Amino acid sequence: MGEKGRTHLKRLISRSVIQKRVREVAGEIKKDFKGERVHLVGVLKGACVFLSDLIREIDLDTSIDFIAVSSYGKGKESSGQVRVNKDLDSSIEGLNVILVEDILDTGLTLSYLRRIFLQRKPKVLKIAALLDKPSRRIIKEVEADYVGFKIPNEFVVGYGLDYAERYRNLKDVCILSLPPE
Ligand code: IMP
Ligand code: MG
Repeated sequence: MGEKGRTHLKRLISRSVIQKRVREVAGEIKKDFKGERVHLVGVLKGACVFLSDLIREIDLDTSIDFIAVSSYGKGKESSGQVRVNKDLDSSIEGLNVILVEDILDTGLTLSYLRRIFLQRKPKVLKIAALLDKPSRRIIKEVEADYVGFKIPNEFVVGYGLDYAERYRNLKDVCILSLPPE
């Protein structure tokens, strides 16, 4: 099998660049919520690495919770339908909530989550996404308040992001190319 027939990973954003940017995003959050408590909600599983790094850079009064959703199935394409697989453990009513996502792609997941979160009456609801692929957006009204990096329309893995549950452990964000079927 030649080069063409292999799965290939190409580094897009290195760990040191990610680390620096995560600190900057945390700085924006600290400025916006100075003196207040922030409740970070990670969207499982993709956001777990980003959230772990982010929260350690936020020296405010914090708490965390997680919600698990699925929209993608096993492959690269969104099914368009969002399902909650694990809901929050506690109420977000009256809290400064930051919804933490790995990537904002079509916007279907975040627009759905934003709708159900707003029904639960947080004091403030903000969205933090490590990555943003603006060219893929279907739901135009959904924007992240804090964005790590805008990236081109490539399928990426690493730093929490997966392809069929693999590659979440890579320290860099990498472009994944698969061999043609
Ligand atoms: P959206 O609903 O299309 O905005 O997709 C959001 C979810 O799709 C993310 O939370 C990811 O789990 C997944 N996703 C979208 N693009 C990528 C990618 O390039 N790599 C890995 N997962 C992705
Ligand atoms: Mg995800």
